[in-house]
Amino acid sequence: MSIFEIFGLLFLLYLIKDFISKNRNISQNPKVRGPLSLPLLGSLWTLGKLPHEDFSRLSKRYGNIMSFYMGDTYTLVITSPDMLREIFVKNFDSFVERTRSPIFKKVTDNYRNFISGDESYWRPFKAMLASSFTKQTLKNHVTKSIDDQTQQLVDVMKSFAETLEPFAPKKFLERYTFNIITKYVMDEQIPYDQEEMTNSPLVKLFDHFSVILQQLGSANLADFVNVLKPFYEYYLFHSDQPYDHITKLLREKTEETMKTYKPNVTRHLMDHCIAELGTESEHAKRSVTNITVDLLVAGAETSNGTLQWCLLMLANHPNYQENCYQEVYEIGKDKLLILNSDRTATPFTQAFIKEVMRVHPIAPLGLPRRAKEDIWVQDVFIPKDTQIIQNIRSLLQSEQYWDDPLTFKPERFLSGMQSQHFVPFGVGPRMCIGMTLATEEIYTAIANIILNFKISPLNGIDKIDESEVFGLTIHPNDFQVKLEKRKNKLF
Ligand SMILES: *[C@@H]1O[C@H](CO)[C@@H](O)[C@H](O)[C@H]1NC(C)=O
Ligand SMILES: *[C@@H]1O[C@H](CO)[C@@H](O)[C@H](O)[C@H]1NC(C)=O
Ligand SMILES: *[C@@H]1O[C@H](CO)[C@@H](O)[C@H](O)[C@H]1NC(C)=O
Ligand SMILES: *[C@@H]1O[C@H](CO)[C@@H](O)[C@H](O)[C@H]1NC(C)=O
Repeated sequence: MSIFEIFGLLFLLYLIKDFISKNRNISQNPKVRGPLSLPLLGSLWTLGKLPHEDFSRLSKRYGNIMSFYMGDTYTLVITSPDMLREIFVKNFDSFVERTRSPIFKKVTDNYRNFISGDESYWRPFKAMLASSFTKQTLKNHVTKSIDDQTQQLVDVMKSFAETLEPFAPKKFLERYTFNIITKYVMDEQIPYDQEEMTNSPLVKLFDHFSVILQQLGSANLADFVNVLKPFYEYYLFHSDQPYDHITKLLREKTEETMKTYKPNVTRHLMDHCIAELGTESEHAKRSVTNITVDLLVAGAETSNGTLQWCLLMLANHPNYQENCYQEVYEIGKDKLLILNSDRTATPFTQAFIKEVMRVHPIAPLGLPRRAKEDIWVQDVFIPKDTQIIQNIRSLLQSEQYWDDPLTFKPERFLSGMQSQHFVPFGVGPRMCIGMTLATEEIYTAIANIILNFKISPLNGIDKIDESEVFGLTIHPNDFQVKLEKRKNKLF
């Protein structure tokens, strides 16, 4: 036998052993079922272009707790709200860690960054962020920048309404959310003005972000198949990656900020962190840099998607848009700007936004976690290192928990009856840390847009395409709307 034949034979044996071992492991857990697992690929063969839809379909067939091999990673896909709470709230400590894969390893610097790193890195960050929100100056700073950005956004939109030029929301909404987070973290922003857009120094950062988000969002086989992982990892750590550029840019920003830092003056979140960590040590520099990287990644992409969906659904549901308009008009008719503090006075608009998040959740599978040890949860054995996926979308659209789940019906939230299953931000202590910020920035933008403009599909189009594009977050295809200025406003 030649060396190739021997190698081939060994590989074949590996495949057979892998096949048997995976399916035996699946069948050993009688409480959970899942699709057949192939060698190397595992159950990934069942997924197409829209994995979140596939997970909904599969969990209808295999149940609310489904086993699934992502390549070689044993995974449980959880749709049951009880089980989600058991895992993410009650047994939080055993599931605090994120999943492990080459791309995660890269963007978390060996699982050592704050939001998505290991427990020991995440805990101090969480404490630091929590204490930042008790600082009134920072809170005011956020609210002020949201109002400011909303005003700028509305002004840009006015110029489109005046010329009746079709408005493509994506570019402006992503600037809006990016700016709010960069203002909060380091008091910088990208101008909305089209000419200036390319000249701003932040734009470089912004461009690198888009690439990273794409990288994180595209399911890459090499992240899941053990025999490929080392090669992919080598590639990520030894080639020029956008992540490294971002870290470098923000490292410079950190050092510059430390030089101008004055005790007792909190200009932004970076200052707040510097106050706790100091300006001297390498540890402080690294920590501040990576908190910043994390917050920008997490903060920019998510609300941006939700806002796009809101505009699209407003255009596609003119009757609901009219209901919202009546409501915000009452509040906003003699104000310059509707504020976050007006939120409770506009229940229908709030319900509309919630319904958009239910029908088009932008993070339909959350961010995966990992079991730290062998554990039994509600009669289900979960071995160490099992990956846990929260099947949020499926839960938000399950007939078991919602009436008529596939129909867009904001009024379902007016009664408040069903809100216990409304979990677009995940559950438990490590759920989305940006929930308050996101709620505030989405509400303020949407309420003011509704107040100032009537939004409709372009002439000749009945409904804008609602199909979803899968990525790190779920977004619509690029679309345009027609904006008409509402006339009956005082200002
Ligand atoms: C099957 O389960 C055993 C015991 O938990 C584990 O050691 C083994 O790696 C698993 N096999 C696969 C292919 O995941
Ligand atoms: C900072 O504030 C503390 C107490 O509020 C005060 O004692 C100290 O003098 C201040 N330092 C500066 C540089 O203003
Ligand atoms: C993030 O900060 C921690 C703590 O200082 C450090 O160990 C880690 O290397 C940092 N990561 C990056 C990407 O700088
Ligand atoms: C905004 O959303 C789009 C998807 O529509 C995405 O491609 C882009 O990267 C997002 N921008 C930011 C800054 O997150």
